[in-house]
Amino acid sequence: MKIILGADHAGFALKERVKKYLDRKGIAFEDLGTHSKKSTDYPDYAFKVAKKVVRAKGSRGILICGTGTGMVIAANKIKGVRAVASTDNYSAKMSRNDNDTNILGLRGRFSSWEKTRKLISVWINTPFSGKKRHKRRINKMDRRGTSA
Ligand code: RB5
Repeated sequence: MKIILGADHAGFALKERVKKYLDRKGIAFEDLGTHSKKSTDYPDYAFKVAKKVVRAKGSRGILICGTGTGMVIAANKIKGVRAVASTDNYSAKMSRNDNDTNILGLRGRFSSWEKTRKLISVWINTPFSGKKRHKRRINKMDRRGTSA
């Protein structure tokens, strides 16, 4: 699995930390920016990452802004994206198990690295249950949105 990364200025510092973490874990990643703390617009990075995740089979994305909220709102406009902004391990885990989320939105501001590291690990390592009822619900959502 490859992780496609994106952040705005408020998520830049955490993105750099996440890259080091993924490196240590031997998880492949691609960084689509931003590459500095200079002010940027989060939808630009959300759309880039969302489109790539939908097109590159088997990939998933991590998007980071100040809260994770704006990134996830934008990413979910793209057909086939199921993005979650999680701040707790349970919702991160169940978003994979039930919703087969393919993008994780993270909070770059006021976040503890220890908590964030665990959250990423739970989200990456939880498989989709594949249950029929969950597939049916996902199919209903995936018919909506703008094509990548
Ligand atoms: C940028 O200041 C901030 O609004 C953005 O990073 C994000 O938190 C939006 O949801």
